[in-house]
Amino acid sequence: MEQQQLQARAIVRNIGQLVSVAQAPIAGASGPLQVLNDAAIMVDTEGKISWIGPSQEIDELVACSEQEHITVVDANGCVVTPGFVDSHTHLVFAGDRSEEFHLRREGISYGELLRQGRGILTTMNATRNASTEMLSDLARARLASVRAHGTTTVEIKTGYGLNLEAEERCLSIINDLNDSSSSPHEHIRIVPTFLGAHSVPPEYRNRRAAYVDLVVEEMLPAFARQARFCDVYCEREAFSLDESRRILTRARELGYQLKVHADQLSPSGGSQLAAELGAVSADHLDYASDADLDAMRESGVVATLLPGCSYTLRSPYPSARRLLDHGLTVALATDYNPGTSYSENMQMMLGLAMSAMGMSLEEALTAATINGSRALALQDQTGSIEIGKCCELALWSIRDYHEIGYHFGTNLIQSILVL
Ligand code: NIG
Ligand code: FE
Repeated sequence: MEQQQLQARAIVRNIGQLVSVAQAPIAGASGPLQVLNDAAIMVDTEGKISWIGPSQEIDELVACSEQEHITVVDANGCVVTPGFVDSHTHLVFAGDRSEEFHLRREGISYGELLRQGRGILTTMNATRNASTEMLSDLARARLASVRAHGTTTVEIKTGYGLNLEAEERCLSIINDLNDSSSSPHEHIRIVPTFLGAHSVPPEYRNRRAAYVDLVVEEMLPAFARQARFCDVYCEREAFSLDESRRILTRARELGYQLKVHADQLSPSGGSQLAAELGAVSADHLDYASDADLDAMRESGVVATLLPGCSYTLRSPYPSARRLLDHGLTVALATDYNPGTSYSENMQMMLGLAMSAMGMSLEEALTAATINGSRALALQDQTGSIEIGKCCELALWSIRDYHEIGYHFGTNLIQSILVL
């Protein structure tokens, strides 16, 4: 410990239960989630976790911490997990769609609203008409709530601008959110995704090929430095398989990593396309066939489930058990958006996955943390509490992690902690 003491930047002590989905076992921990009681974490001067062990071993270090300028956080005996990694959101938008939510309750489907030029296009209109300041204020307020619910990494997509100027504006807002005014200990990691192929905007309704040209020839090259991922909504009501392939192939050439909204409302072929192009993840998967799932597994595509959509659209929940039995890496995300999942709460997604998708608590926590980071190709940096990784934690107001999913409908997070 001697040398580590000198190099420590921060310590989290008095952790009642450290629950980490570690890829390598932690000494002294037990169970599928590597649960360690009365634990502490040490963070080195580079901001990486350098030691995990019993809290009492660190007490001597705490005593001399003041002169060493080490930040010491007392977790007061609470549960600590990795912060959630929410790998799929659309949180930059204006307006709301409560009217459509209630119309759907009267029997009009989400697909029908899209065909009527509503749905995504309702939000596109509100977003285009909002000032940059308004959009940015809305996104910041949402991010504060994301943080308050325990998420430390969030992917955010564009897709409600749907022209060069408005997509650019949304992408800049996403990137500027990184300079958050929050305390550095609550700094969320943000992953920007370009989703110009979310819907064909009305001015291109009768010449959709020209919109695909615009995405491929102008938007993709313009945004290659601002966005890490390119995503496509591959669906009957959105972009065909061929259109999606063309967009994603060009994106890959330009250095984007790939994601696909796949097989959500119909068997669109999106998950096969994700496998064919080596996408990092395919998301939704309500209509994915066994052959689709096999292809994804062979190509190492992460399967991302979005239970908030099934909840909101009142459609059958895809079975996580089926995906797990296919040998897939399954991630859970909120899909935070005003149409199909108006929720920033990953605890809610965990609860739904456990009650309606056949996941155990251990599988759901894995899906919401380390597998979320795999869905963003960030597994070497975040998503678990392990030596060498960034220290991005969720501190819970509970003493036993088995309360997660059991005590539902309330926010059990005390705070996030980024050191
Ligand atoms: O992931 N399906 C496409 N995109 C979103 C919905 C966006 C919206 O309805 O505004 C989704 O479900
Ligand atoms: Fe989505």
